[in-house]
Amino acid sequence: MTILVTGGAGFIGSNFVLDWLALSDEPVVNLDKLTYAGNLTNLTCLDDDARHVFVQGDLGDRALADRLLAKYRPRAVVNFAAESHVDRSIHGPEDFVQTNIVGTFRLLEAVRAYWGSLPEAEKVAFRFLHISTDEVYGTLSKDDPPFAETNANEPNSPYSASKAASDHLVRAWHHTYGLPVLTTNCSNNYGPFHFPEKLIPLMIVNALAGKPLPVYGDGMQVRDWLYVKDHCSAIRRVLKGGRLGETYNIGGWNEKPNIEIVHTVCALLDELCPKADGRSYKTQITHVQDRPGHDRRYAIDARKIERELGWKPAETFETGIRKTVQWYLDHPEWVANVQRGTYRKWVAKQYKETNE
Ligand SMILES: NC(=O)c1ccc[n+]([C@@H]2O[C@H](COP(=O)([O-])OP(=O)(O)OC[C@H]3O[C@@H](n4cnc5c(N)ncnc54)[C@H](O)[C@@H]3O)[C@@H](O)[C@H]2O)c1
Repeated sequence: MTILVTGGAGFIGSNFVLDWLALSDEPVVNLDKLTYAGNLTNLTCLDDDARHVFVQGDLGDRALADRLLAKYRPRAVVNFAAESHVDRSIHGPEDFVQTNIVGTFRLLEAVRAYWGSLPEAEKVAFRFLHISTDEVYGTLSKDDPPFAETNANEPNSPYSASKAASDHLVRAWHHTYGLPVLTTNCSNNYGPFHFPEKLIPLMIVNALAGKPLPVYGDGMQVRDWLYVKDHCSAIRRVLKGGRLGETYNIGGWNEKPNIEIVHTVCALLDELCPKADGRSYKTQITHVQDRPGHDRRYAIDARKIERELGWKPAETFETGIRKTVQWYLDHPEWVANVQRGTYRKWVAKQYKETNE
């Protein structure tokens, strides 16, 4: 048996692939376009591992998807691939429409054709798991209850709109064609291999480089935070036991304003890697103009996945953020590779021959 993962060289996808192969021998075919966010150095420990087949390509390449599905006959597809950064979606929404909407549509069509051709037992066992975000639900005010699966989609950024559109396609492919789909909507992830354009790794990397720590507006935007390994365990749980056609919210029960996150990162760095001059990294914090349309609060009601599938996060924010800061301190070469862009050259050199 095999699973096909898209976007498995990105932040969450690479953590998922590593955990999957650490926990089972079931091979993974990893289809990733290797945009700026795809980093195969995350997976160097799998270089000689035959259970990991890497294929550079676009999830919207129908012919490629058809070929991979026919060749590897996966029992499941887990769709992580996406353009994922809100700021980039504001400056250039087109890629988000292409990858997140058109790409998901083409993948769904390829999977539908493949699934339709399977013998009955394999057809019944097959799953298409779509990875989505809490941002599709829009924004909450201070006293609103957290997002439940029954909340309406009210996306506010080009990113969240494109993810909501892809969620709707997945839902429709179930209701119209009977495709056995599952969707997860998760809150903000943090942990190893997080590209330093996102809040937590950006703060760690800038702090260590002596650069300003840019906080949008008043920093009181509230997010729910989940350690990435907990997200991966939730995905495995939904893949195994989720009810077909259902959506599962995944969250860490960890609502915090951004400014508190930044203070926590600074305090951990003060402890683990004190500055030579004895001052706190907090002195590097600077408030910058807020992002247009910046959602004020996200919060996730993750009771359904706990009730139905018995999943709960293993890490608290305190344990997860400490592991994360320590990981960045232990991997300066990973950070340097990302900052210099050398990971992209390495990829081209190493993986040229293995591309399909
Ligand atoms: N990061 C979060 O906090 C978070 C939270 C909830 C949900 N999600 C969702 O989880 C998924 C993964 O997020 P991430 O943070 O790992 O993203 P990421 O940007 O780190 O990784 C995305 C990966 O997809 C690949 N990719 C992009 N366009 C592609 C295309 N057209 N074809 C094939 N591959 C392509 C990239 O090369 C990259 O490896 C996304 O669908 C995102 O919406 C992320």
